[in-house]
Amino acid sequence: MRLEKQVALITGASGGIGNSLAYLFAQEGSKIILWDIAEPSPTLLAQIKNFSREVLFQRVDITQIKEVEEAMKKSYERLKRLDILVNNAGITKDNLLFRMAERDWERVIGVNLKGTFNCTKVASRFMMRQKYGKIINIASVIGLIGNIGQSNYAASKAGILGLTKSVARELARFKINVNAIAPGYVNTPMTEALSPKVKEEMIKNIPLGRFGEPVDVAKLALFLASEESSYLTGQVIKVDGGMVM
Ligand SMILES: NC(=O)c1ccc[n+]([C@@H]2O[C@H](COP(=O)([O-])OP(=O)(O)OC[C@H]3O[C@@H](n4cnc5c(N)ncnc54)[C@H](O)[C@@H]3O)[C@@H](O)[C@H]2O)c1
Repeated sequence: MRLEKQVALITGASGGIGNSLAYLFAQEGSKIILWDIAEPSPTLLAQIKNFSREVLFQRVDITQIKEVEEAMKKSYERLKRLDILVNNAGITKDNLLFRMAERDWERVIGVNLKGTFNCTKVASRFMMRQKYGKIINIASVIGLIGNIGQSNYAASKAGILGLTKSVARELARFKINVNAIAPGYVNTPMTEALSPKVKEEMIKNIPLGRFGEPVDVAKLALFLASEESSYLTGQVIKVDGGMVM
């Protein structure tokens, strides 16, 4: 098993990619801390418990640093380590720039970018003490190429890339690897509102001819969470079926 005796914290764990991350990491022997503002499905919890001795769900709004600090303290007291943080929670509130409400700009930046900052800041204190850690930030190819109607989302994800590289430089001496994953389109609740016609158009720009599945992202995260990636830091890796080359 690739994550035996590790403790992994996954934000946005009740969503599509979060579910898959939790399931795969548990299968590889990790203890799992799930953070979300929404309850995880009982099926997921039952499945994870088949593999992992320790599974802990905490209701945490990652935009609130106090909540992040409290929850991290509690989970650390119980599990005594924090090896892996996956900053996965994210939202969209799409609109053309001239129609975009200030609150939708602030909410998307607040969850996606500030939430990632909050969790990384708090988690890194524990990881620095341990002199070990793996931080994986789920960004998006939209942060690299932009998208009509997604200026808030693209800015938040581009911000995550700058954060990733700066923190990677700061934390390298503590043996903490910090990398980002930039997924293309993935079949999750985030993309299920797209009409079949829109999806068909998008698929024309994906050389591998399909949307990704959550497990495609989770497998790359598993690599970044494991010893196999110990010489990688500050990297942005795309998992997008070849959409952006
Ligand atoms: N689905 C895609 O096509 C796609 C593509 C590129 C990147 N991503 C990124 O992958 C990540 C996961 O997305 P997904 O597709 O699984 O979406 P999802 O909507 O299924 O899951 C996101 C989860 O984040 C949680 N969340 C939202 N606000 C939160 C907050 N303030 N505090 C804690 N949790 C919060 C939600 O409750 C939800 O469970 C996101 O960062 C997203 O931007 C997704």
